[in-house]
Amino acid sequence: MDVVELFAGVGGFRIGLEKASHEFNTVWANQWEPSTKSQPAFECYTSRFDSGEHSNEDIAEVWPQVPEHDLLVGGFPCQDYSVARTLSGESGIQGKKGVLFWQIMNIVQSRKPKYLLLENVDRLLKSPSKQRGRDFSVMLASLRDEGYFVEWRVINAADYGFAQRRRRVFIFAFHKSTLIAQRLQNEGPEDILHSKGFFVKQFPVKEEHNHRHPDQAAILPEDIVEVSDHFSLPYKNSGILIGSDIYSAELIPDSDESPVTLREILEKADEIQGEVDEKYYLKHDNENKKGRSDFEEMKYQKGAKKEKRVSQTGHEYYYTEGGMAFPENLDAPSRTMLTSEGTKNRSSHVVEDLNTGRIRFITPLEAEMLNGFPPNWTEGFMPERTRYFCMGNALVTGIIEKIGQEILKLHKEEEEEDHVSQLDLFETGVDR
Ligand SMILES: C[S@@+](CC[C@H](N)C(=O)[O-])C[C@H]1O[C@@H](n2cnc3c(N)ncnc32)[C@H](O)[C@@H]1O
Repeated sequence: MDVVELFAGVGGFRIGLEKASHEFNTVWANQWEPSTKSQPAFECYTSRFDSGEHSNEDIAEVWPQVPEHDLLVGGFPCQDYSVARTLSGESGIQGKKGVLFWQIMNIVQSRKPKYLLLENVDRLLKSPSKQRGRDFSVMLASLRDEGYFVEWRVINAADYGFAQRRRRVFIFAFHKSTLIAQRLQNEGPEDILHSKGFFVKQFPVKEEHNHRHPDQAAILPEDIVEVSDHFSLPYKNSGILIGSDIYSAELIPDSDESPVTLREILEKADEIQGEVDEKYYLKHDNENKKGRSDFEEMKYQKGAKKEKRVSQTGHEYYYTEGGMAFPENLDAPSRTMLTSEGTKNRSSHVVEDLNTGRIRFITPLEAEMLNGFPPNWTEGFMPERTRYFCMGNALVTGIIEKIGQEILKLHKEEEEEDHVSQLDLFETGVDR
């Protein structure tokens, strides 16, 4: 199955797909970091993977080079997807400049892959705040206009046995000519989401409906500019688009796998890295501008706050935030890793070392393991700070592995069907 990987980072999609099966063949991958001259994520990607073509240029420049493929994958940024009619052409539309989703659509238009698998932060479903769900609706309308059906699902990796409470929306689009599209268009949307659809096979859900969040049905307007200007829908955590019919429901995950805990990750990492270097421990004997040691600073960052502050305009207000565990609870999965992981930031993970009992940051290796990357995947290609950053950007590869298994089943079905229709053709014996 030929795959194209966009916004490839250090290859989370590819690792997951290849874990699912070696039948996934990445023929073209693109990764380019616009904010820096050095390209460490690309260096890592291209050194770790041999086959296929690897491009390190702005996707906006190189998308016409994308070859034919069956599956397009990528984790792209949540941006403003609104569109306007072009002044010149009645049917032409234009989106904002620099919005990477349009590069995905350029490729979809020119190459028409059978399947797309996209990943984003779950905020995408509700953005922007002034017109809830507009951006996702524009995305759905764009895919519909190219002949795709779409199923989406917000998945928290820890709900399905993984070591991180990372919640992301996964969007699976399939062309209406595929077997899955033909099968699902004859099913009711509730059945699709609860039992017959794509995601539920690997990520089971409870039968019951979520009464606090009733299901919703809507029709996506035909005109994408109308969608962009006026349509709004507070999307639930799962849904399906068939033609212009949207159905969305708040599903409740149902898995009997207990999640891997942070302690288990630290234990596994311990076998590989041994004694943790002193630099990861929080110092007690230094002092920052506020007179706090690293330890005190992290304790302060994580603590509950109610502080009087003054805004830039001189207005006094109280800043409040709740407390967080310090150190982390090791007997639960970790929280979501952000790109600031490993810095003196409230969201960084701080743990009690299993051997020394002292308090430290997690190591880059532990960060990789929380995402299910092979140990030391990014080592040697970039500074440590960037290793954490790349993991904050990446995904839990086990989720992609499970999705990959499901995509492969669809692909096999398609191949069998092709085979049968070829035989039919031979048997019908048309006289040319
Ligand atoms: C959310 S990260 C994806 C991470 C990836 N899934 C992984 O497992 O590492 C998005 C990536 O898109 C890249 N990117 C941003 N703008 C780009 C552009 N214009 N062209 C190509 N890649 C771009 C970033 O450098 C970043 O690595």
